Amino acid sequence: MMRELSLHILDIAQNSIRAGAENLDIRIEENCCENILLIKIGDDGRGIEKDSIEEVMDPFVTTRTTREVGLGLSLLQETAESSGGSLSIDSEPGEGTAVTARFKLDHLDRPPLGSLADTLISLIAVNPDLEITYRHQKDGDCFDFSTEEIKAELQGVDIQEPGILKWLEEYLRENIAEVRGLSHPVLNL
Ligand SMILES: Nc1ncnc2c1ncn2[C@@H]1O[C@H](COP(=O)(O)OP(=O)(O)O)[C@@H](O)[C@H]1O
Ligand SMILES: [Mg+2]
Repeated sequence: MMRELSLHILDIAQNSIRAGAENLDIRIEENCCENILLIKIGDDGRGIEKDSIEEVMDPFVTTRTTREVGLGLSLLQETAESSGGSLSIDSEPGEGTAVTARFKLDHLDRPPLGSLADTLISLIAVNPDLEITYRHQKDGDCFDFSTEEIKAELQGVDIQEPGILKWLEEYLRENIAEVRGLSHPVLNL
């Protein structure tokens, strides 16, 4: 069982990269009024055929078979469902895929979000050509991030440069903590 949702996000994003995505869109919505946490990961990868969607979502199929059907999606589905939520997949072959996980924000079994900055930095460090958009909303507040914008500002300096990644990590950590209303960036509830 993965302890933090940020690790699930990394895992689901890796599916997108394996599916040939050039663009990845990660959205987090924390809605206290409605008591919902929503995580959506969208990509422009090769997509999933209609017939296969049920298969990749079905925990029985994935646990029973020794074929190359993995556990990433069904593990997240299990986590979402045991937190009073759900998982859904929308996909269009040749167009892309969106995976949406919903959780009851205050459910005792909901894992903490964890370090979203680390997840983003891991994705950027290994996939410099991948364009990532990230939007984190909490109630009325919003933080937007785009690798395309950062790269434009870097004016040719490699985004994978250790100094740049270090700066980016701090930038993300601070801004995500701020939008989340956390008094200290190390608290990752
Ligand atoms: N974003 C995606 N685009 C295309 N296919 C996907 C995507 N996400 C998942 N899949 C398909 O669903 C399968 C199961 O995914 P997952 O549960 O994460 O297990 P694993 O990645 O270990 O195979 C993948 O092997 C892949 O065929
Ligand atoms: Mg996977």
